[in-house]
Amino acid sequence: MKAVILVGGQGTRMRPLTLKTPKPLLPIANVAFIVRQIQWLAKYGVDEVTLSLGYLPDEFETYFKSNPIPGVNIDYAIEKEALGTAGAIKFALGSTDEDILVCNGDVFTDLDIGYLLDFHHSRDSIATIALTYVEDPSAFGVVPTHEDGKVIAFVEKPPLETAPSHWINAGIYVLTPEFIDLIPAGVNSSIEREIFPRALEASSMYALESDSYWLDIGTPIQYLRAHSDFLDKVNGYLDTENLKEVIPGLYSNGNVQIGNSVIVKSASIVGAGSIIGDGCVLEACSLGERCIVEDNVEIINSVVFSGTKLGHSSRIESSIIGNSCDLGNNVTLCELSLVGDHKKIDPQTSLKGERLSSVV
Ligand code: GTP
Repeated sequence: MKAVILVGGQGTRMRPLTLKTPKPLLPIANVAFIVRQIQWLAKYGVDEVTLSLGYLPDEFETYFKSNPIPGVNIDYAIEKEALGTAGAIKFALGSTDEDILVCNGDVFTDLDIGYLLDFHHSRDSIATIALTYVEDPSAFGVVPTHEDGKVIAFVEKPPLETAPSHWINAGIYVLTPEFIDLIPAGVNSSIEREIFPRALEASSMYALESDSYWLDIGTPIQYLRAHSDFLDKVNGYLDTENLKEVIPGLYSNGNVQIGNSVIVKSASIVGAGSIIGDGCVLEACSLGERCIVEDNVEIINSVVFSGTKLGHSSRIESSIIGNSCDLGNNVTLCELSLVGDHKKIDPQTSLKGERLSSVV
């Protein structure tokens, strides 16, 4: 089966980490997010993936040239200018004579695609949408339905008090050729705001409420959440992720050097070739490969990409640090601080919710 993944967005909410690396190529527990997503689709028989892109397209092609995914053929539909979520699908497909699976390139989920396809095929639906439940739908597209799943309306970002339901568009769709015909070619258009409402006027649409794991990884807080959720369940992934427990609670995919008196307060991972100094404290953190963590560093609920050095006695909490950074001694990062690749940070620096980049 063929799937289109929308990966053309600029990932502005994750800057500066996305200035040189598109959001889908950011790691989740040391594996590029898009790889996790394609592996999930492949489990349900997807063997052809078109990446619909425009922002930093070469990064994707270079990545997959050296990291192909067995059993999945990947091709690229590269937009000269952003066509929006619907225009991009049209551009990627032209016209088609089969149903197509489409998903946003930032949804982390284990939704049962087989069940979604069965649901779609059992109804007369021009397009079928997966829905996920959220406590506060006010930042999302809400999709109220009848009991059988027939869509009643699309309500963009309703105030919490007046939201018709808490079931939101999960960014995963099965689209028919008739639906694709409704999208104008070569024009920027939004599937959520323009084409779905248009299709609902013309035809019937269905949506499937799913209680599967689902997370949009597009903001720093959600990106960290994806890691803490993964680490909470890491024991179930040891085989598939090729991880071994190196000291109680700390997992790695290769050889690492661990100092004396390291305390792991809750499950954490560290990539091959990294060194962790004496007296460090790790709590729900993910460290990349070849990192150097000097003595007495505390890392809590944070993500550090590969090749980064953390100077002694630093404290990193609820923050994300890019590749090949060099943090001096006694640096403190907290409250969703983001540090872009190759950034050097002076000793004693303290950052609270700031974003630093070395890219000009
Ligand atoms: P922000 O800039 O932080 O809002 O992130 P984003 O650029 O990813 O935007 P958003 O989360 O709204 O996009 C949802 C999905 O659609 C993401 O997977 C994007 O990559 C994708 N997307 C958004 N706009 C386009 C577009 O014009 N073309 C393509 N191909 N994909 C798009």
